[in-house]
Formats: sequence, C-alpha cells, structure tokens
Amino acid sequence: MELIVAGNREDLVKARRAGTVALVPTMGALHEGHRSLIRQARVRADQVVVSIFVNPLQFSPNEDFSRYPRTFDADLDVCRAEGVDVVFHPAVEDMYAPDRQISVSSGEMGRIVEGAARPGHFDGMLTVVLKLFNLVQPDLAVFGQKDAQQLALIRRMVADFDLPIEILGSPTVREPDGLALSSRNRFLSEDDRRLALALSRALRAGAARLAPSEIRRTAMAVLDEVGPGLEVDYLALVDPATFAEVSESYEGLAVLAVAARVGTTRLIDNVTLTLN
Ligand code: PAJ
Repeated sequence: MELIVAGNREDLVKARRAGTVALVPTMGALHEGHRSLIRQARVRADQVVVSIFVNPLQFSPNEDFSRYPRTFDADLDVCRAEGVDVVFHPAVEDMYAPDRQISVSSGEMGRIVEGAARPGHFDGMLTVVLKLFNLVQPDLAVFGQKDAQQLALIRRMVADFDLPIEILGSPTVREPDGLALSSRNRFLSEDDRRLALALSRALRAGAARLAPSEIRRTAMAVLDEVGPGLEVDYLALVDPATFAEVSESYEGLAVLAVAARVGTTRLIDNVTLTLN
C-alpha cells in the first residue's frame, strides 16, 4: 500500500479504512525509539497513523521550537519502511486558528517535576494530543515511557475526559552504552555525549538500591561526580500515576526520573523500579 500523507481532517477521513486505527503522535526527526512505537502500533491495529507535528504550544519562548530538528523526507522513508498507512502532517496555521481560546489544563500534576521546569509545557502537549485524538479518532494510541510524566498525564486526560482510546506505553529504546534515544541527541558534541551518559548511569545506580532515600542519594552522587558541564534540573523518585514524590514506606512501582542540561541541550530520562 502507498503511504498517504494527510494535511487536514478531510484527508484523514478519506484515508480511513474499516478496522482498528492506532495513532503514534510524534514531532518527527524519527529514530529507533519512534520506530519501536510504530511497530507496537502495527501489531495491534489494522491501520497505523503517525502524526508528525512540531507543536509550538508546548515550547516556551526561551525553548528550542525553531531549532527543533525537522527531517520530513527522511521521516517519510522511515514510515514507509515500517509499513505505516497514513502520515498526518498538518501546518501550524491549520492546527491553530488565530482566534483560538480553549486549551487543556494539565492541573497540579502538570506543574510538578518536569512541569515545574517547563511551565505551560504539559498544557500545550495535552492540547495538541487531544486535537490529534479528535482529528484521527484512533482506537488506540502508543506513547513512550521515555516521557513518563507525559504518558501519565495522557492517561489522566483519557480518564478525566472519558476518551474512548486505549493508551499503550512502550519501553525506552537506548544506545548500547545506555543513552536514551532522543531527537535532541544530534545536538550533543562528543564531549557532551560523554557527560550525557551520566543520566542513565545515575538511574541504573539508583535502581540497584532498595530504600527511596538510598536510591535518591546514590543516583545524585553519580550526577554530582560529573561536575560542571552537567547541570541537573531535578532528580525525582515518584509514583508513576501521579508523579508525586514517594515516601520512605512506599510500596509498588516507582519512577526514578532525571532532567539535566548538557551544553545547550536539555535531556530527560527515567527508569521504572519496584519498591517493597
Ligand atoms: P516526540 O518527542 O517526537 O516523541 C514521540 C513519542 O516517541 C513519545 O511518545 C515519546 O515518549 C516516544 N519516544 C521518544 N524517545 C523514545 C525512546 N528513546 N524510546 C521509546 N520511545 C521514545 O513526545 C512528543 O514527541 C510530543 O510531546 C507529542 C506527544 C508528539 C505531542 O506533541
């Protein structure tokens, strides 16, 4: 089947076929992490739609919206190779009317951890994801664990707004040395990349401990060892559903999450662990 490129709702309606539809929302610059999401969608649904849209609403004025990598032709090749049926690639003007007013509020959960470091980011993210859900009307949608708070917020939105969409989480794809794949990794110099390895190293070291205080201390010690060049935004050990910090007596799944700046590039990573 030919890959269909859709730019608006009309194109999407025309491309729709009978059977289940899976949506994989992305901002493009597709890498192996995105590919693993697409493969999961492919095995679960009859039709796979990948959206490629760099969403201005989720970038603050001092962030990297204009610098964000755009590699549309290469992305189309990836989608063809993965057997994607439809690429939805709207223009910014078609997504956002100049007189738009209403947006999604991510609530308290969107203002903590990553949300504290990036005010407004999660409101903008949820707004575009809700629009994509309404435009594509998928039966299921696939998101990466790499952005664990984003995934938790999308699950929360689906529950709070009664959206009839199954949300699938997909494990983080890493380089052999542990670095989590990210569209932003291409901005890392050789030296930056070496420093960036401290994120996954810290998470592994923390995850080898048993008690929350030990986990945080051990992971932080690895980050502190790096010294200047790595600027830590936060290290948090949280409940995966709420992103609230866990207490010393917490039992169950927890997420150890980190964000740091290396040079001019901001990176995030996390691991899931079980506390008991
Ligand atoms: P983007 O950063 O392009 O990521 C698209 C999807 O790929 C997200 O679900 C993300 O968690 C997943 N992903 C990224 N790196 C990954 C990795 N190394 N392993 C597994 N999955 C990975 O996240 C966004 O775009 C946007 O916020 C979006 C949801 C599209 C809304 O604009």
